[in-house]
Amino acid sequence: MRREVLLSTAGLRAGYGGKPILQGVDLEVREGEIVAVIGRNGVGKSTLMRALIGLLPATGGAIVFKGESVEALPAHKRATLGIGYVPQGRDVFPRMSVEENLKVGESIRGSATAADYERVFASFPILKERRAQRAGTLSGGQQQQLAIGRVMISSPQLVLLDEPSEGIQPSIVQDIARTMMEINRSTGVTIVFVEQNLDMIRTMAQRCYVMDKGRIVAAIDAHELDNREAIRRYLAV
Ligand SMILES: Nc1ncnc2c1ncn2[C@@H]1O[C@H](COP(=O)(O)OP(=O)(O)OP(=O)(O)O)[C@@H](O)[C@H]1O
Ligand SMILES: [Mg+2]
Repeated sequence: MRREVLLSTAGLRAGYGGKPILQGVDLEVREGEIVAVIGRNGVGKSTLMRALIGLLPATGGAIVFKGESVEALPAHKRATLGIGYVPQGRDVFPRMSVEENLKVGESIRGSATAADYERVFASFPILKERRAQRAGTLSGGQQQQLAIGRVMISSPQLVLLDEPSEGIQPSIVQDIARTMMEINRSTGVTIVFVEQNLDMIRTMAQRCYVMDKGRIVAAIDAHELDNREAIRRYLAV
C-alpha cells in the first residue's frame, strides 16, 4: 500500500527582491519517506527549503502539507503544524548552553516532556553529556546534532535538513546519517534533506530530486541510487 502524500508543491516560485530563483518546483513526498534534494552550488536548494518552511514568501504556486495549503502561512504556523527546519550552517545559539538551545526548540510547539528530552538524548548522547556546555564551544558535528535535536524535541512530522554534512568530518557525517535513519524508523518522521555529499546521499536517501536553475530536472529512484557515478554526474549538472 502506498503511503499518504505528506508534502507537495505545484509550480512553486520564490526569489529575493524581485529576482526569481525557484521557477516552478513540483515535488511530492509521502509519509515516512527520506528524500534528498541534490544539485550543484547556487541552483536554489536552500531557497526551496526556506520557501517550504515559510522564511521566504512564495511568489507563485502551492505548498500543501497534510492536505492543507500552507503557502500563505508564516513560518511559525508551519512549525506548529509539524514542519521542522534545520538551516544550512546550523545556526545554534553560540552563547547559550546545549540545554537552553533545546528549550528554544521546545517552545516552537508548546512544551516538551522529560520523555522528549530522553528521546533526543538517546539519539544524540553527546548532547546529554554536554548539556551544560555553551553551544559555541562544540565541534561542527556536535553543533549539527544540536541543531537537529533542537528540531526533534518538538516531534515534527516533517524535517527539512539543509546540508547537514557541511563542514563536518566524514566519520561524524556517517553517524548523523545513521542516526537520522534510526529516528525515521522508530518515529516515522519524514525527512527532506539537501545534500551534496555523495556518501550521505547514498546512505540516507530512499530517492532524490535533482535541482538545476530553480527547477526539478530529474528524479532518482532507489535503484538508480546504487549507481555512484550517476549520482556524481547529477551533482555536477
Ligand atoms: N538572501 C539572498 N539574497 C539574494 N540572493 C540570494 C540570497 N540567498 C541566495 N541568493 C541567490 O539565490 C540563488 C540560489 O541560492 P541558494 O542558496 O538557494 O542555492 P543552493 O543550491 O542552496 O546553493 P549551495 O549549494 O551553495 O548552498 C543563488 O544565485 C544565490 O546567489
Ligand atoms: Mg544551500
